Amino acid sequence: MRIIVVDNYEEMSKKAANMVASQVILKPNSVLGLATGDTPVGMYEEIISLYKNEEVDFSKVKTFNLDEYYGLSKENPQSYYYYMMNHLFNHVNIDENNINIPNGMVDNIESECKNYDKRIVEVGGIDLQVLGIGVNGHIGFNEPDISFESETHLVNLDEKTIESNSRFFNSKEEVPTKAISMGIKTIMHSKKIILLACGNSKANAIFETINGKINPNMPASILQLHRDVVVIVDKEAASKLNLE
Ligand code: GLP
Repeated sequence: MRIIVVDNYEEMSKKAANMVASQVILKPNSVLGLATGDTPVGMYEEIISLYKNEEVDFSKVKTFNLDEYYGLSKENPQSYYYYMMNHLFNHVNIDENNINIPNGMVDNIESECKNYDKRIVEVGGIDLQVLGIGVNGHIGFNEPDISFESETHLVNLDEKTIESNSRFFNSKEEVPTKAISMGIKTIMHSKKIILLACGNSKANAIFETINGKINPNMPASILQLHRDVVVIVDKEAASKLNLE
């Protein structure tokens, strides 16, 4: 793992955006794995600026998002579909046929999940996966105790995740209790990974991910076994790290 400690959120966002843009410049038909949450919002803003300055072209890019809440429609402002349109896709020249986000409204979850993995394989796998991290160490919505062998599947959200994500909803009761998430195995098959984290609330998860034992209770710790991971963290999120 390569660890880059930056001073603040803005620096993290710029560095991550430059890495995503470089990927697309080097390989215009890249397959990007994308994340939601507060953490990558600044990165998406920077990517949009790069696009507006004609430094990067998304016309051939394909994207696969990590996850989607189960039971939320595309029109729901809390859905990850809505988030992605709002924070990135509406502002760049991506072909909407190249956007892939799990559908949280389907009846047949099993076939939705199988199909999602199949589509990723068919396009040759994910070239660059962007990840955030939950306070409990989840990546995507792969909660503690996940099987490292998991592919895209329906998950029951952890109490901590529901609590933490309730900030986006009117009340905790409105937070869906299930989600469709790319599995750890799917994520680990990505050719490159960028993990982003900022703030004190992520310090413990970042410490366990980088310096802890690889353990399903801390899902992100499996990233220690990936050959090409860059972790970009601000000083607060890095505060517990032993960087010798
Ligand atoms: C969410 C998402 C994750 C995200 C994480 C952290 O629940 N499913 O993909 O990385 O939680 O979110 P945030 O960046 O808002 O702290």
